[in-house]
Amino acid sequence: MRIHPLPPPKPATGLGKLPVARWFVAIGVVTAVAFVMGSVLIMMLVADVRAQRPLPRVAAQLDRLNVALIVLLVVLTVAGLGLVFIVRFAVLKPIAQLTDQVRKVAAGDFDHELSVERPAELAELSSHVDSMRRRVVTAWRRAEDQADELRRSNGELEQFAYVASHDLQEPLRKVASFTQMLEQRYGDRLDDRAKEYIRYAVDGAKRMQLLINDLLDFSRVGRVTGERVTTDTGAALSTALDNLSAAIEDTGTVVTRDDMPKVVGNRGQLTQLFQNLIENAVKFRSDLPPRVHIGVKRAGEMWEFSCADNGIGVEAKYADRIFLIFQRLHARDVYPGTGIGLALCRKIVEYHGGQLWLDNEAGEADEQGATFRWTLPAAGDEDDD
Ligand SMILES: Nc1ncnc2c1ncn2[C@@H]1O[C@H](COP(=O)(O)OP(=O)(O)O)[C@@H](O)[C@H]1O
Ligand SMILES: [Mg+2]
Repeated sequence: MRIHPLPPPKPATGLGKLPVARWFVAIGVVTAVAFVMGSVLIMMLVADVRAQRPLPRVAAQLDRLNVALIVLLVVLTVAGLGLVFIVRFAVLKPIAQLTDQVRKVAAGDFDHELSVERPAELAELSSHVDSMRRRVVTAWRRAEDQADELRRSNGELEQFAYVASHDLQEPLRKVASFTQMLEQRYGDRLDDRAKEYIRYAVDGAKRMQLLINDLLDFSRVGRVTGERVTTDTGAALSTALDNLSAAIEDTGTVVTRDDMPKVVGNRGQLTQLFQNLIENAVKFRSDLPPRVHIGVKRAGEMWEFSCADNGIGVEAKYADRIFLIFQRLHARDVYPGTGIGLALCRKIVEYHGGQLWLDNEAGEADEQGATFRWTLPAAGDEDDD
């Protein structure tokens, strides 16, 4: 377990700065001095009275008074010593013992048992503190075990990604290319049905390649992390639009954008995020001339982005489902896709400490469209405008 160095103890305030032992000594000394001075004064008075030759009965009483004073002095001395003994061995020492044990635990020796046997109050206190220590340690160890387990399963996922990227893609490429070669080389000897079967096979292999690539992207977020630094989202958006330029031109989509801020993030992943959302906006267009607007506004520590289109929109009841991996609302021949895009987007945003959701309220009355909103942490060193 890791632990920060033990911070210095909080200093006491006011009269509490003096340790209990000093208070005890000070009060003891004042009491003893007062008592001795009082006794001496009384004895002097007695001597004074005696010098005036009092009646024998009075003289006898004065003698008794002297004896009483001496006995009282002895009793008080014994009682004082007894008190010193009790305070020292029954209070101060066990407190020091407990402090020492607690300091050891606080400094990182979490298995150090806290136990003080007396007095009863401290024994109870130490046993409660010790059961608190045991509970905290147990919970901590359990959390550590879970973290280990998570690291292990992440490692397995990494392994899976590796297998998917190399061991699966290679044979797939073989299937696709040899099937295509089959058609090229023996096309003249094949009938139409055979050619159609070959087309299905090539199509299947290509789709599987797409799926594997998307899955790889998905598994990379948070694993092959890349740095998170102050990043210009405007540049990430421009790259995404460049990558989509063909689709945007082909469909005649008009893309408008606000001034984009800087956030703390990973440039590559933010590009992927914009690209997937805009790709969807273009893909799920309606009969209207397609328009997409990328907006942004400040929301406390975060920037809230939006991607709004005037396409076919998403029914409110599917607002959660569309973010699940492989979940799609349309048949593949109507709108192609793997159903990983939004799951990947959500993973990227959550990895950055933000949230991504479908905004059902947004959109003008005459055109439905879909509006996605997401937050990203603002880079600290800029104006709040
Ligand atoms: N802009 C949008 N307009 C309408 N529907 C959308 C939009 N974006 C996503 N969807 C719906 O959410 C589903 C999941 O999206 P996504 O995960 O990107 O998968 P894919 O794009 O591969 O279908 C889509 O199949 C679609 O039904
Ligand atoms: Mg998509």
